[in-house]
Amino acid sequence: MAKIPVTIDDKPLEVETGRTILEACKENGIEILTMCHLEGIGDVGACRLCLVEIEGINKLLPACTTKVAANQVIKTKTERLKKYQRITTELFFAERNHICAVCVADGNCELQDLGYKVGMDHVRFPYLFPQANVDTSHPMYVMDHNRCIMCTRCVRVCSEVEGAHNWGIKNRGIEVRVISDFDTPWGDSTTCTSCSKCVNVCPTGALWPKTVVQGQLVKQPKMVSELVAKRKMNL
Ligand code: SF4
Ligand code: SF4
Ligand code: FES
Repeated sequence: MAKIPVTIDDKPLEVETGRTILEACKENGIEILTMCHLEGIGDVGACRLCLVEIEGINKLLPACTTKVAANQVIKTKTERLKKYQRITTELFFAERNHICAVCVADGNCELQDLGYKVGMDHVRFPYLFPQANVDTSHPMYVMDHNRCIMCTRCVRVCSEVEGAHNWGIKNRGIEVRVISDFDTPWGDSTTCTSCSKCVNVCPTGALWPKTVVQGQLVKQPKMVSELVAKRKMNL
């Protein structure tokens, strides 16, 4: 595969054509914050945490969905980017009801980890405190919309990897919600195979098995990445 020259955070690099900026960064040990990205499923640029600056382009662009181009000069850690990462993180917390102390994911949550990473010691935006539904109709799992950050990992893993297409999205803005089948209780789904892939890739305490209680949730997001890698190799 042909390689092209790019500069990331002042490091001159040779990157394979067709790579996203996120892939190029990962291959070269440059950390980029992500939330909606998950190895093995398609990127959609939903969370906007991975925004980078590219010289000559006024807009900030998501590293997960932007391909590298020859001679790009990319910055991933400027004060401007850090400011936006902190705002994005605060908005995740302000939009739904994240009370970590009573959450199954407390201590094992990618969103909680993100809060620590960006140094979020308080939230500067008004909390919306929505009356979000908790769907306990599935015999094995719970969907708690109070903890959902709309990363859509569940939607993509269900359609792209499991092929079940149970999850979808309804509404827009602050009314946006993940839905099962055609907005029916998860337990009534005729498409869900109870494979647990969505539960394992969800970065927060929004999807969890009924067998766990507060602070006990352990997820295995890599299970999906490994499965996809094996399929590619026809193992
Ligand atoms: S999902 Fe994560 S951030 Fe939200 S309440 Fe649970 S532990 Fe806290
Ligand atoms: S339920 Fe979990 S995986 Fe699905 S969109 Fe919400 S936070 Fe993301
Ligand atoms: S990881 Fe790129 S937008 Fe979410």
